[in-house]
Amino acid sequence: MNYETLLKIEDLYVNFRTDEGIAKVIDGISLSIRYGEVLALMGETGCGKSTVAKSILRLLPKNAEVRGKILFKGTNLLDLPESELRKIRGKEIGMIFQEPLTALNPVFTIGNQMSEVFKIHKLRVKRTIQDEVIELLKNVRIPDPRRRYYSYPFELSGGMRQRVMIAMMLAGRPSLLIADEPTSALDVTIQAQILKLLMDLRNEYNMSILLITHDPGVVAEMADRVAIMYAGQIAEVGPVKDIFLNPQHPYTRGLLRALPLGHKDERELENIPGRVPNLINPPPGCRFHPRCPYAMEKCRKVKPKPVMVSNEHLVFCHLFGG
Ligand SMILES: Nc1ncnc2c1ncn2[C@@H]1O[C@H](COP(=O)(O)OP(=O)(O)OP(=O)(O)O)[C@@H](O)[C@H]1O
Ligand code: SF4
Ligand SMILES: [Mg+2]
Repeated sequence: MNYETLLKIEDLYVNFRTDEGIAKVIDGISLSIRYGEVLALMGETGCGKSTVAKSILRLLPKNAEVRGKILFKGTNLLDLPESELRKIRGKEIGMIFQEPLTALNPVFTIGNQMSEVFKIHKLRVKRTIQDEVIELLKNVRIPDPRRRYYSYPFELSGGMRQRVMIAMMLAGRPSLLIADEPTSALDVTIQAQILKLLMDLRNEYNMSILLITHDPGVVAEMADRVAIMYAGQIAEVGPVKDIFLNPQHPYTRGLLRALPLGHKDERELENIPGRVPNLINPPPGCRFHPRCPYAMEKCRKVKPKPVMVSNEHLVFCHLFGG
């Protein structure tokens, strides 16, 4: 294993059992995240971004069947007993979500909830736990942290609550942060502040970040590399500059053409005809083939293998000989 790699996802498959049948949501994806890097996972709604994130920490519901390997510092998280995984979850790997209110307990103060993290993970403290919590609130730039220690979640704005979630996650000094649409519930100004905070913290704490978003402006601003997903498959992965300036996969080309950088629009795929496929009965081969203007016979049968088009830039498409 490459010593630079913190997390390595190998050939991950996720199926969900549903009343209608088995939804084949993740179709054999592989990805790696290096120490200190920000990897963005981007793709339209329903393509499986959150499913990948939740697979890492084994937070998927019971109807999920997961296959493959998720190596964190060389250990396969999918094989670990739950008791071992609990030591990693919220300590070595932190996670923040879109809506921080649902993750905070309304009946306990911020200080109370944050102190719990220190107790659960038996984290070492220099002085008292309260001092450590206030220090963390300070680190996420919460004004008047001593007073906020005694606040309840409803007394804080959305942006402040997200800062609290980030502070909580920092308590364990994680080496990996999974941020699933961390700012999409916030207004634009607050969004920018939270993203800037995450970037500052990445440097201060030397964390890697798996950043899930459908916003190319956020990717351009924050990420080192980006993986583009379509219907549970990776379409293209590489350094952000290469993908944005020189997209190769027909899906990425359509996606980026449809989206002026930094402009978020629900109709983003207007000029790629067709819809995201039903995953109970997904198209065989390249799942993009029903919408792809270049689809060939082979595309309907064979799943494309990655082809390197330039250093670190991989495309999963038969047009490139894969
Ligand atoms: N527990 C579940 N049971 C059945 N299907 C599920 C379950 N969870 C997710 N799915 C399906 O898996 C697919 C991927 O969902 P996922 O939430 O990972 O997408 P996403 O890329 O995160 O989308 P969004 O951008 O909207 O957050 C969707 O079709 C969704 O309906
Ligand atoms: S593999 Fe075929 S269908 Fe898929 S993107 Fe490439 S050309 Fe289009
Ligand atoms: Mg999601």
